[in-house]
Amino acid sequence: MTNPGVLVVTDDAALLQEVQRSAAGAGLPLQQARETGVALAHWASAAAVLVGADLAVALGRASPRRRPHVHLVCLGEADELHFRAAVDVGAESVIANARESGVIADLLAERAESRPPGQVVAVVPGSGGAGASTLACALAQAAAARGRALVIDCDPRGAGVDRILGLESQLGLRWTALTASPGRISGESLRSAVPRRGELGLLTWGGASASRPTALDAACVRDVVEAARRVHDVVVVDLPRGDDDVVREVVARSDQVLLVVRPTVTGVAAAARQVGALDTRVGLVVRGRGVGLDSLARSVGAEVMAQMGDQRGLDEAVDLGLGPLRSLRSPLGRTATGLLDALGAGAGRRAA
Ligand SMILES: Nc1ncnc2c1ncn2[C@@H]1O[C@H](COP(=O)(O)OP(=O)(O)OP(=O)(O)O)[C@@H](O)[C@H]1O
Ligand SMILES: [Mg+2]
Repeated sequence: MTNPGVLVVTDDAALLQEVQRSAAGAGLPLQQARETGVALAHWASAAAVLVGADLAVALGRASPRRRPHVHLVCLGEADELHFRAAVDVGAESVIANARESGVIADLLAERAESRPPGQVVAVVPGSGGAGASTLACALAQAAAARGRALVIDCDPRGAGVDRILGLESQLGLRWTALTASPGRISGESLRSAVPRRGELGLLTWGGASASRPTALDAACVRDVVEAARRVHDVVVVDLPRGDDDVVREVVARSDQVLLVVRPTVTGVAAAARQVGALDTRVGLVVRGRGVGLDSLARSVGAEVMAQMGDQRGLDEAVDLGLGPLRSLRSPLGRTATGLLDALGAGAGRRAA
């Protein structure tokens, strides 16, 4: 099937030229509509719609049907009228200073790929040190063997997923720079900017902010998770315990929430409280042996998705910078692979 084109609603030659320049790399055909009637005729079938500032108000008056991937484009600054028109046409964003921002090229590159959205997996500790960050990194490593994977660190008090994966000295985009820059980031920009090893990317603090990570804003985390899932097969989010705004936001957007439980009396009690706080369906990953699985599931109030033994030599592997997943046949490897299989994640998604 050929990819449908991008509808550009404008009668402004300079704006059209800018869109043509930005679209050159994406390989998507462009179709210009100089008036609202023509725009409405192609509105539903286009892969994306770029509405020029010159025709946005007129198009808004025609109340086009709501559809995804509509953006309003201004060559200069956006003003109140543009934001109003963006609401009327159902635009997802207003792209101001289009020439300088590079946002159009990123957006069209994403549409050209037309990937199915990736799976988002959140991993939460049932009790302190249960093994959530380790499992999150192992899942991301296993997912990277199948396709594109990203692990997002949302725990400012944790060791940092870069340390767990041995990627702390890799250069790349980190939370500190991301939260300081205005505007949304596109999936492709995110993917190409974060530290990575092969198909495994990561987003964490680190660098100059290593000892004093800044708190995250839930809306920013939401935008990053959504951008990430557009260009990755699997996005794993390492969450802290609790139910703050960031935890709620990520949990609400996840295809699967995993809670790592220690099968001890205190581990189970803490996990039950955490499940109560999250107030959503979670799958349990039990680390170690102790309390029986049936009674554990009943006490915690969630189903057991996996049970794994402790991984021998884990701390040494992490200290050596190898990451927690040294072999797919290890306890962590088998668990991560089984969980990805259960989620239908990774394999073959890119071909869809
Ligand atoms: N699968 C495992 N096998 C053996 N030891 C493990 C495993 N997972 C974690 N550990 C041990 O537990 C420690 C804590 O792990 P981790 O940081 O992943 O826990 P967490 O649940 O994320 O903790 P936190 O509450 O700090 O977020 C690790 O340093 C390691 O020593
Ligand atoms: Mg952790």
